[in-house]
Amino acid sequence: MVLPPELIAHAARLGAVRLRDLVAAGRDRADALLISHGGIEFDCSKQRLDRAGIAALVAHLEGAGFGARRDALLTGAIVNESEHRPALHMAYRHGATLEGAGVTGLVDRTQAQTRAFAQQVRSGQFKPAGKAVSRVINIGIGGSDLGPRLVADALADHAEAGPELRFVASLDPSELSRAVAGADPETLLFIIASKSFSTQETLMTAQAARDWMAGQVGLEQAGRHFAAASAARDKAIAFGINPDHIFDFPDWVGGRYSVWSAVGLSLEIGLGPEAFTALRDGAQSMDRHFATAPLAQNLPVMKALVDFWNRAVLGYPSRCVAAYSARLGLLPGYLQQLEMESLGKSVTAGGQPSAMPGGALVWGGCGTEVQHSFFQWLHQGSDPTPVDFIGIARHFASSDPRERVLAANMAAQGAALLDGRQVPPGDDVALAAQKSMPGGRVSSTLLLDDLTPATLGALLALHEHKVFVESVLYGINPFDQWGVELGKVLTKGILDGQLSGYDASTRAMLARTGFVPE
Ligand code: F6P
Repeated sequence: MVLPPELIAHAARLGAVRLRDLVAAGRDRADALLISHGGIEFDCSKQRLDRAGIAALVAHLEGAGFGARRDALLTGAIVNESEHRPALHMAYRHGATLEGAGVTGLVDRTQAQTRAFAQQVRSGQFKPAGKAVSRVINIGIGGSDLGPRLVADALADHAEAGPELRFVASLDPSELSRAVAGADPETLLFIIASKSFSTQETLMTAQAARDWMAGQVGLEQAGRHFAAASAARDKAIAFGINPDHIFDFPDWVGGRYSVWSAVGLSLEIGLGPEAFTALRDGAQSMDRHFATAPLAQNLPVMKALVDFWNRAVLGYPSRCVAAYSARLGLLPGYLQQLEMESLGKSVTAGGQPSAMPGGALVWGGCGTEVQHSFFQWLHQGSDPTPVDFIGIARHFASSDPRERVLAANMAAQGAALLDGRQVPPGDDVALAAQKSMPGGRVSSTLLLDDLTPATLGALLALHEHKVFVESVLYGINPFDQWGVELGKVLTKGILDGQLSGYDASTRAMLARTGFVPE
């Protein structure tokens, strides 16, 4: 896959225009760069693009076989070639035409099971030690943590009264200690969330939790406080989880795409069925839009084309995500796994070295807090970096001045990146130069009507599909992650003391620290 000369020509043409002038190019351009669906508006008018550039990108995407690839995804064909699996996470929000794929029965059954269990816990009917559950602790990492943790945090205001939620991913013992602190152990429910049920951190933390519970309520009783969400039922049983409290999901749901499945059990309990269903419905609406909307009016497609344009055509190595709501503070971390574990590859699905860069480095944080940290770098640093502002439209007209100021700041930062400012030299030329800002820096804004379960579901599904579209443009498989395995193998080697093949620096550090193998 190489860049067609048309795209390079458009980049040269658009590169020669001052961004400010491009933005002022009129209604037709503005309309071409404003796409909305599902309570989300994507405004990419501050990008170095126009209708002709978009048309060339759409043609390139079609030329890359996007149509057939999308159909394959949405009908349950094998799109994760290296693991020989379909990728059917949309099935958990009934977001694709999957009747033929024979999965709806399994999805309906597993959803009914988690719903019933969540209801038993929420109603107080499930009493592992004769008391209702007051706190649910999800133990998981990566996709078995980032999605549920983000959704729980973002939608805490929408939760129906119920058990509180805590999340433990780190091996640092303090995270588990803090998660159980202050709770009556007899009212705790631990959910071990692990697709493979073989992830070292999750199993060690689960074991530590069980040992701690055994110390509190006795070994036999302790087991009653554990449930699991996994695609490896046999391993969960072997770990000692009661089979009635193991909630399956199939291996064709990727970890980083799994919040919709049984991995979302903690949410179904903590937020309640209404909010969790609304989250899935919001995602379903984005699935249907993705499946049917013309490409230039298709939100995930357009987001992917803009990000591909910046990454592969204009050569920006990273993209900053600035979420202008404290409730979206965990979004950049979630997107890092979704995008970088999916697109962080330099070999094509066919096993060839890729002529294209893979996906961008994704990083970010919460606005306006980040304005007081790394925005200096974004405005005056030597590496212009595209920014995604994620904001809430309701804030602009809010009666709460804090929300209005939050929104005004977000708008101002996009304008400042675009315009910059040239400080007239006056008496102190050096100071004027230091105060001047280059401008011409691109950004997009994703505006949610408001932050609700439905718009959050749509926002996550939008990014899942965006990643898929980008993978077609890069010619890579977005659903595997072979690159994470070596670190796990080398960790085991260190723990087993099998150091002979390790590099001298690593062996020296282990020796210096007095590391003793298990
Ligand atoms: O190591 C990476 C990874 O496999 C992710 O893809 C996954 O989300 C995470 O680890 C956790 O895996 P599991 O859910 O199998 O414990």
